[in-house]
Amino acid sequence: MADDPYAIDWAAESGRLSGAAQDDAAWYEAQAAALVKPADRLAVDIGSGGGGMTLALASTQTQGRVVAVDIEPALLAAATELAGERPGARVRVETAVADLADGAESLREALGGPADLIWAAASVHHLGDQQAAVSLLAGLLGPGGRLALAEGGLPVRHLPWDIGLGEPGLEVRLDLAQDRWFAAMRAGLPHSVRMPYGWTEALRRAGLVQVTTRTTLFESAPPLDPRQRQRVVDGLAHRVNRLRPSGLLDPADSATWDALLDPDRPEWLGHRTDLFRLSARSVHVGVRP
Ligand SMILES: C[S@@+](CC[C@H](N)C(=O)[O-])C[C@H]1O[C@@H](n2cnc3c(N)ncnc32)[C@H](O)[C@@H]1O
Repeated sequence: MADDPYAIDWAAESGRLSGAAQDDAAWYEAQAAALVKPADRLAVDIGSGGGGMTLALASTQTQGRVVAVDIEPALLAAATELAGERPGARVRVETAVADLADGAESLREALGGPADLIWAAASVHHLGDQQAAVSLLAGLLGPGGRLALAEGGLPVRHLPWDIGLGEPGLEVRLDLAQDRWFAAMRAGLPHSVRMPYGWTEALRRAGLVQVTTRTTLFESAPPLDPRQRQRVVDGLAHRVNRLRPSGLLDPADSATWDALLDPDRPEWLGHRTDLFRLSARSVHVGVRP
């Protein structure tokens, strides 16, 4: 695994995913408020990562259970810790270690009944057969249950087009390299098949109706505060370092990133007051008839 530039060590991602869960808390709360209904008794967070949505669901739902599901026990521990911070909690948070690729049975057992709401953010795209995963999740819903897939949107941008070092458009080329990395990562997954249509179509093919998409714009305008600035630098370093072993980064860009990400260099990104954060995240929802 260490030699595979497309393998992801989810336990090692724990700190980053927990940080993102906390940064995006307001977005998770808004999503939960839009999706949870008063009579809901069972919500599920599939591939719960840092537990941001697990916490929001448990804080919004008024009864029953929220189950966080992940392939990585260390991440479930992070989600439990975050969700445990609710004062006066009325909803029980449970966890289940499961690999979605193993099929529905162990999940069905862990849930113990049909789900009212299933949320899956950036997790289904780690399955070789995404349509099979969407159909599996749709099959765990009760009548009127909702499946929400947070997938896609627009890539996040942080840098001016011309940063005065190397060829302009550095972050555009980083996105392109990232896209190629993603395609190779997906091609290497067990039983990988292409899904040559969008997420709303995948929800319809899974038998769901009333399919909609809601997209949220994220914007942090410059100047960022020192904590935000550090998170931008860390996020870019994470992407660049993940890409380096794949050879997908242009060598000249790689040298530019070396300078930008080195705190001992005058070009270090942490010195810049013009960093920003701009992105869009889409949530696609379907309802089981
Ligand atoms: C990119 S992270 C997203 C985490 C979180 N949902 C978020 O939006 O920040 C993908 C998550 O899916 C989990 N995951 C990946 N493959 C999985 C699988 N086959 N079965 C269950 N969970 C999986 C990972 O452990 C990780 O927590």
